[in-house]
Amino acid sequence: MTIKNRGTNNFFQINDRALSHKAKIVVHGNNNLIRVGPKTKLGKSSVDIDGNNNIVEIGSDCAANIVLKFRTDNACFRMGEKTTAIDARFYFHEHYHIEIGKDCMLSAGIVMSVSDMHNIMDLDTGLRINEGKDIVIGDHVWIGFLVQVMKGARIGRGSIIGTSAIVTKTIPEYCIAAGNPAKVIRKNVFWERRLSPSVDSKTARYPALQLQASWEGELDFAR
Ligand SMILES: CC(C)(COP(=O)(O)OP(=O)(O)OC[C@H]1O[C@@H](n2cnc3c(N)ncnc32)[C@H](O)[C@@H]1OP(=O)(O)O)[C@@H](O)C(=O)NCCC(=O)NCCS
Repeated sequence: MTIKNRGTNNFFQINDRALSHKAKIVVHGNNNLIRVGPKTKLGKSSVDIDGNNNIVEIGSDCAANIVLKFRTDNACFRMGEKTTAIDARFYFHEHYHIEIGKDCMLSAGIVMSVSDMHNIMDLDTGLRINEGKDIVIGDHVWIGFLVQVMKGARIGRGSIIGTSAIVTKTIPEYCIAAGNPAKVIRKNVFWERRLSPSVDSKTARYPALQLQASWEGELDFAR
């Protein structure tokens, strides 16, 4: 584990066991805040900040391999408690936010960026047309392999994003969305981390509504 603080007034609140020996935090700039909640484990992860007044807040009980790159001032990354990520990268080249809810499951090869990283201008007006935007992901969202989440995307609670999707707009709650650009392919679903291959899917009935209710109760309780 390495923490390099190359500025002033940077604040680190990280539990001793949060960072594996492969994790790295490097901050160039001032007044940045990095907070990692209790019982969270960051494996092969890095936080690389070159800027001022940025915020990184990772809740408790998370397990994640993440890369966070800040090349701006005043940006913010928040990840709610119990969220997991096999391998996800987050880029901040403008002062926008990425907010990820509680109990989300992020797979491998995931990329999210609040900006396009380069300007695009309208030739008639000379104005920039691709201002950055926030990304907001609700609680208990499952993001599949190789998904890209673009600036301005919003994903409603309980939803699933299929492998290789590119999410550009708003995906409602409790649905499956897939494709490029991601579109809803199924509504009214609920997912769980468990996989039960032996269950006969034609006859087995998951007490879905009950499941969903208890999960939402737990979250409310946690709040
Ligand atoms: C999106 C997903 C959940 C859909 O599962 P499903 O509800 O069983 O859907 P189906 O396989 O019946 O497919 C329904 C339709 O969506 C299409 N579809 C399914 N997955 C798709 C994807 N990733 N991209 C584009 N289209 C997809 C199918 O071709 C089918 O189209 P059709 O109606 O025109 O025939 C699944 O395909 C998927 O991508 N799972 C994620 C797996 C993953 O990344 N796991 C990571 C472990 S952490």
